[in-house]
Amino acid sequence: MKNTEDYIERVLFTEEEISARVAELGKQISEDYKDIDSPLLTVGVLNGAIVFFADLVRKITIPVQFDNLIASSYDMNSHSSGKVNILKNLENNVKGRHILLIEDIIDSGTTMNYLLGYFKDKKAASVKICALLNKPSRRKVDVKIDYCGFDIPDEFIVGYGLDFAQHYRNLPYLGVLRHSIYEKK
Ligand code: IMP
Ligand code: MG
Repeated sequence: MKNTEDYIERVLFTEEEISARVAELGKQISEDYKDIDSPLLTVGVLNGAIVFFADLVRKITIPVQFDNLIASSYDMNSHSSGKVNILKNLENNVKGRHILLIEDIIDSGTTMNYLLGYFKDKKAASVKICALLNKPSRRKVDVKIDYCGFDIPDEFIVGYGLDFAQHYRNLPYLGVLRHSIYEKK
């Protein structure tokens, strides 16, 4: 597995394409939130959003604070259970705060739908979603994505934070994983 071609079928978005889109998202977010009276609480959904989070927050020009969480929508057998667990929660009290959830990819929508309800119940002033990627064809739960990097077809994507079995997160671009990689497992 030394050569990229062994596991990447094709590049979906290059570093340059991602960077340009992230800059646009940062600009739009800065504009939309310019009148809020407390710093925007940017919440990275770990681990997948780490790279996107780090790039996006540096394109936001209004005051922000950082927090993060880990959520799992899968049971022990890795079958999607539709049930979401928060494995690591925020350090900030969200009451009265404007929250921007930053996620790598929205697939079934289960995770984000749960988190939206969770933060609304905790009396956040507002909760919005910023997702780098969106797979609309896979949606099971209707969820509004306020800021979306790219709509993509139903293929398995790795790189720029996204993994397969914890691999490939450090690729600087977004690529389609070869079928032979997940058929082997
Ligand atoms: P869902 O929207 O609740 O189904 O969950 C989305 C999560 O599934 C994402 O945060 C990823 O961790 C994972 N996921 C879905 N599709 C992909 C993919 O193509 N590559 C890598 N991870 C994915
Ligand atoms: Mg994720």
